[in-house]
Amino acid sequence: MFDYTSYKDVDLKGKKILMRVDINSNIDVENNRIRESPRIHTLIPALQELKDCAVVIMAHQSRPGKKDFTSLELHANEIRKLLDRPVKYVDDIFGEKAVQAIKELKVGEVLVLDNVRKWEPENKKYKDFKEAEQLEMIQTLAPLFDYFIADAFGAAHRAQPSIIGWPTLIAGPTTVKELQYMEKVLENPEKPMVMLIGGAKAIDKYKAMKYNFESDRLDYALCSGLTAILIMEAIGIPTGEPNKESIAKDLEEAKDDIKETYEKFKDKIVLPKDLVIEENGNRKVVEIDDLAKYNAVTGDIGPKTMEEFTNIMMKAKTIIANGPPGIFEKEVFREGTFKMAEVMARATKENGALTIIGGGEMGTAAEMSGYAKDVSFISTGGGAMLEILSGKDVPMVKALREKKP
Ligand code: 3PG
Ligand code: MG
Repeated sequence: MFDYTSYKDVDLKGKKILMRVDINSNIDVENNRIRESPRIHTLIPALQELKDCAVVIMAHQSRPGKKDFTSLELHANEIRKLLDRPVKYVDDIFGEKAVQAIKELKVGEVLVLDNVRKWEPENKKYKDFKEAEQLEMIQTLAPLFDYFIADAFGAAHRAQPSIIGWPTLIAGPTTVKELQYMEKVLENPEKPMVMLIGGAKAIDKYKAMKYNFESDRLDYALCSGLTAILIMEAIGIPTGEPNKESIAKDLEEAKDDIKETYEKFKDKIVLPKDLVIEENGNRKVVEIDDLAKYNAVTGDIGPKTMEEFTNIMMKAKTIIANGPPGIFEKEVFREGTFKMAEVMARATKENGALTIIGGGEMGTAAEMSGYAKDVSFISTGGGAMLEILSGKDVPMVKALREKKP
């Protein structure tokens, strides 16, 4: 179903390769450390498959202006701890320092470049691949490599130069594995199929949910996090100013559309019955009708919501989770997210359900909870996974098809 050249189809022995990966991680900014990173954990076996190459890693961390928009030195340190071969880091992307380090890199070594989003054009969309090919970074780096490996599955939906701008592209180990799982879900999802939606980037997740309802694949969407806030605000349930603030822009853009979608699919869209706020360091459960009155940030789903989500998930045959139901980084808001990871593990074991956890955040939460190993698959893709599962021809997949070497 997906048309690409795999890294297995090409003789990579002794070659210098540029590998665009997605190791965008959940960073504990205060302590300057990376929390459990399933994306880095996925990169290690991928690198082991490429041990006969000189591998240069290009990746991003967060977006300009955000608190966790850091250099990739932390990531390089983490990879070095986990990999049994030399891992170098250079705080440059395609300047003289980077070019020198790339030229000197030997087979068996790994070099991590700095956060590619520090280069401004990387933050733009290039629908026209030819235009991206002309950009300075691509023009400077392309002649230094034999092959370009597209392994940033988690950013496959971004038409950014480092994803789609290279002269040729082949799919790396992570992409190949991810696309095999995507095929499974797309071709023949066992029903009922349920999506558990949470976290941030509410509008992206809302859109993926809508596509999946419209294409008749999805049976239930269990909504939490900012997606739940967005839908509730759109249909006239006030959630309080601090919550509304986080989705104000999305709401302005899509309010009518959301209302319409909700009307059409309201039997399948499951909204929270209760949410949790923090009061003097403790969890306080708030009924939906009282949210406006408390006017506080909600950070987790409450017990009634957990129960309803659990009942639906335990009847499902396919469960896709994207985005954590709660702000699990904070102890006080952790329960709902860990509980949902546990339920997914149970659905896998007891019901033989195909369970996929997607996205850097929910993947991290699953690893922290200890249940990651008990679900069918931890995808490195969040939004990317959702778009592919919506039947969209995402930029990286399109580029892989059009840019075979
Ligand atoms: C992600 O974490 O979703 C990917 O790394 C893509 O990041 P982006 O949404 O900032 O493009
Ligand atoms: Mg993310």
